[in-house]
Amino acid sequence: MNLKLRFWLSGVALMSALALAACGGGGGGADAGGGANLNVSTAGEALQFAPAALNATAGQQVKVTFKNGSAAQKHNWVLVKGSDPEAQKVDDAGAAAGEAAGYIPTDPNIVASVKLVNGGETGTASFAAPPAGTYTFLCTFPGHYVAGMKGTFTVK
Ligand code: CU
Repeated sequence: MNLKLRFWLSGVALMSALALAACGGGGGGADAGGGANLNVSTAGEALQFAPAALNATAGQQVKVTFKNGSAAQKHNWVLVKGSDPEAQKVDDAGAAAGEAAGYIPTDPNIVASVKLVNGGETGTASFAAPPAGTYTFLCTFPGHYVAGMKGTFTVK
């Protein structure tokens, strides 16, 4: 093999690797094992999640990567079975649990959670997707849920 051809081939291999890597990023997707990699962040400094809707399939292994896009404000990500009434109850219990608990209470309606994450940092949660239904995710840092820091997690 001449040098020119070898150089060209290594270029093709590199481009293929980059294309594959690009597919793994973005808003999430399925991994080789049939699991779901879901990415969620704050909407910058706003007390909002982006995206505000996530999806999974019942029983599927899910990995949520939560990026706190704020400069200094702490946030968490808590997935709750139910809608606003259950989320409000978890939010109240979280405030009572305090910062030492990351504002995450012990509550039977909590499906999964990403611990309190400092501004600019990332946390993850891995869990099996619960049965089909509509769930709510929220940040239980005091005042954030009532300001609208919540979203919908749909399991099909
Ligand atoms: Cu928050």
